[in-house]
Amino acid sequence: MAERARVAVLISGRGSNMAALVYAAKATDCPFEVVLVSGDRPEAPGLALAEAEGIVVARLASPASNQKRRFFEELDQALRRSSADFVILAGFMRIIPDDFVEAWSGRMLNIHPSLLPKYRGLVTHAAALAAEDTVAGCTVHLVTSELDGGPVLGQTEVAILPDDTPETLAERVRIAEHQLLPRVLADYVSRERSPEWIERRVDELACTLPEVTSRTAHGSPGWRVGGDKAGKFFAILSVRHHGEEAIALLVKSSGQDEMAALIEAEPDIYYRPAYYGASGWIALRLDRSQVDWDHVADWLQRSWRTAAPKRLTKLIDAADAF
Ligand code: GRF
Repeated sequence: MAERARVAVLISGRGSNMAALVYAAKATDCPFEVVLVSGDRPEAPGLALAEAEGIVVARLASPASNQKRRFFEELDQALRRSSADFVILAGFMRIIPDDFVEAWSGRMLNIHPSLLPKYRGLVTHAAALAAEDTVAGCTVHLVTSELDGGPVLGQTEVAILPDDTPETLAERVRIAEHQLLPRVLADYVSRERSPEWIERRVDELACTLPEVTSRTAHGSPGWRVGGDKAGKFFAILSVRHHGEEAIALLVKSSGQDEMAALIEAEPDIYYRPAYYGASGWIALRLDRSQVDWDHVADWLQRSWRTAAPKRLTKLIDAADAF
């Protein structure tokens, strides 16, 4: 199986949603693993549970009101140390500072006990009962700087019973949360490993370069520079081709020596692709966690240069000289 996505979970209390993630990750085909549990309350019962399950716990002291910046710096360091790819807020009762949200943009998810956009913030169940709603529910969404306002990734509706109290409703919604969160997270982390998603991402980057068109190369998605007839391929997406396990971008290296050196230095990233390797194409794996897309963009540009006609590279050189 491909490498699993690394997930950190932040809690403030019981941590039953965190536990749902930990137990889901025990399935051998689960695409994520929980690598860190932390939060803002060192006495939170969920931390002891995580420890008992053998998960690394960063037990940070609750921040005094003038220590919040420091707290989030420490938290960020703990997350980086754990090499987490994703952060899950599972009952983490703190407003997250904007720069922290920005640093984890697209990689931080929250679980909220209402059918957003209804009932942001606290006391969601009492609000649903007071409004005489017939359904309540829960939502998993991406975290943005707007409180409980980021794009929704998944929701589950939960019927309200005539004699429900906020407590009985909360208890049932929690059962739904425990189902929803692991499923949505599994889908979300798998998305970035899917050939379609990777192809779209490469296409966006490749198409920022001058005179690029996409065309299949022996059945694989490819990108060419320099017009329909005289054009040349500078990038090819190899999707588990020739019995290989990887999804990789093939780009032009300067030759066999450079290829061998790169593969030796970073064997998790580079390999010599079947057939193409002989003519200097190197494979850059994209079905990994923490793909550095700026690095991919640099490779695309470099490879584009080797294939582009002089009239185009001259223009770029002139622009670079400024
Ligand atoms: C859950 O209801 C969740 O939706 C909300 O906080 C609660 C956390 O519960 N954000 P637990 O700590 O996971 O049991």
